[in-house]
Amino acid sequence: ARVAVVISGEGSNMAALLYASRLPDTATEIVLVASNNPDAAGLALAEAEGVPTWSLSHKGLTREAFDDALDDALTAARPDAVALAGYMRLLTPAFVARWRGRLLNIHPSLLPKYRGLDTYARALDAGDSHAGCTVHLVTEDVDAGEILGQVAVAIRPGDTPDTLAARVRLAEHQLYPATLAAYVSRFQDAAWIEARLDELAS
Ligand code: GRF
Repeated sequence: ARVAVVISGEGSNMAALLYASRLPDTATEIVLVASNNPDAAGLALAEAEGVPTWSLSHKGLTREAFDDALDDALTAARPDAVALAGYMRLLTPAFVARWRGRLLNIHPSLLPKYRGLDTYARALDAGDSHAGCTVHLVTEDVDAGEILGQVAVAIRPGDTPDTLAARVRLAEHQLYPATLAAYVSRFQDAAWIEARLDELAS
């Protein structure tokens, strides 16, 4: 399957998806890395790896104008799926509707716990035994779409948001490629496609 990845920053999850796609017998190919931040470190990494990139600063643009431009860039790359990976902007309902069922995100918590920001500090403050990460489908409500995969990460005594984030990140790098590959493999399944078409029609 053709996969486009959308990032805002470091792009370590994008790198995990990219290198996983280069293992033998993988079902995914990264066809575009797109960003709202022309200085995103992940863009330079993608370029060095010979992956097509696209970037446009969102500054001074309305959300609609930026999302339309992103949509055009994605459409031109003909992806079967779009993976948000540290994309730090809200998407317009029109964009989400257009890519519905093909748009995934990774979030650093065990959803439905801790949607939004500061997930590590919130898990620590709550005295949770575990933090973790979740790959989910993107819907209009932030961090609320169908959960496709999760990994729990034990919280250790003395953890800070930073030490916890570093371990959750390791788990993310395993979870995202595996979950994406499993999800796109469903695209070959005729019964699954029919169910999705019914859902879209309703
Ligand atoms: C990850 O923790 C991801 O869960 C969150 O943003 C972070 C992105 O990190 N949505 P990176 O850019 O992939 O390194």
